[in-house]
Amino acid sequence: MDKLLKVENLTTEFLTSEGLARAVDRFSFDIGHGETVGLVGESGCGKSVTALSIMRLVSDPPGRISGGSIFLEGKDLLSLTEKEMRKIRGNEIAIVFQEPLSSLNPVFTCGEQIREAIALHQKMGRKQSREKAVEMLRLVKIPDPGNRYFSYPHQMSGGMRQRVMIAMALSCQPKLLIADEPSTALDVSVQSQIMELLSDLRDAMSMSILLITHDLSVVAQMAERVIIMYAGTAVEEASVKEIFSDPGHPYTEGLLASIPRLNARVERLSVIPGNVPDPLNLPSGCRFSDRCPKREERCFAKEPPMFVAGKGHFVRCWLSEGQER
Ligand SMILES: Nc1ncnc2c1ncn2[C@@H]1O[C@H](COP(=O)(O)OP(=O)(O)OP(=O)(O)O)[C@@H](O)[C@H]1O
Ligand SMILES: [Mg+2]
Repeated sequence: MDKLLKVENLTTEFLTSEGLARAVDRFSFDIGHGETVGLVGESGCGKSVTALSIMRLVSDPPGRISGGSIFLEGKDLLSLTEKEMRKIRGNEIAIVFQEPLSSLNPVFTCGEQIREAIALHQKMGRKQSREKAVEMLRLVKIPDPGNRYFSYPHQMSGGMRQRVMIAMALSCQPKLLIADEPSTALDVSVQSQIMELLSDLRDAMSMSILLITHDLSVVAQMAERVIIMYAGTAVEEASVKEIFSDPGHPYTEGLLASIPRLNARVERLSVIPGNVPDPLNLPSGCRFSDRCPKREERCFAKEPPMFVAGKGHFVRCWLSEGQER
């Protein structure tokens, strides 16, 4: 069956005082119906800009989608008018951000904010949309939803606020939910509750999820496939199983080595030395070459294409040289 979302050569740039920065650079990936895909990479690699590009919410200026295409069930999102795009947002694609407090309006109750989202998108009357809002609060497992409807954001805990955001995002039954680090700001036990909630809701509502995180262990919990992103583009793509059992890119190996293991006797976690390069100042050849423990002469000469490393497994590294994708 055709893919739900198809992103091809997406390029998003920001005009900065130092020049044009390509935050996302010819990035391609897809998401199937009902599939959960993890998008993983270090801070600054372009995950959020990718999410905002799909929603067409990149602030212009300074940002601009300068190339590529985004198809949702064959519909070319980049060719839609702003009015048409507004119908897609919320109804077909919804997004949950990392910090729920800044996304909620402090002067309205949580319930009222969900009710408004429902009324706006589904053209329901006040009473009906209010019942639906309470039902959504119940769905995201907020205790005593009838009364919690009247709580203001500051009266809720961080975990509860994130549940409110999820309720709002899912109230119109989107086909695709983009969850941009939905649990990063929360403590570990609340984090796993939110992840559990998301996977229950995904199964109940048969939606697709683009799960953005810098943490591979979160992806292992709920995604089927992973895209590893580095400096604006994909460097590896594989099933979750293969990423863990047979990683192909030295960057992926570095990310795996930095996952804490409870039963390991290591003193210190291995972290990849250095930082994601500034988009204005990419190293020549492979983008990871300046940090790569396995680099060779040729890595500085030319950027590798995506090579086929197995069925559904692609690696952008000269060490995996073979058939090109
Ligand atoms: N409004 C902007 N103006 C200029 N540059 C920007 C803007 N927004 C993002 N960028 C740049 O785009 C690049 C990618 O940023 P992005 O926010 O997508 O990273 P991220 O992978 O989501 O990181 P994190 O894990 O920290 O959320 C960064 O180099 C960032 O500085
Ligand atoms: Mg981000």
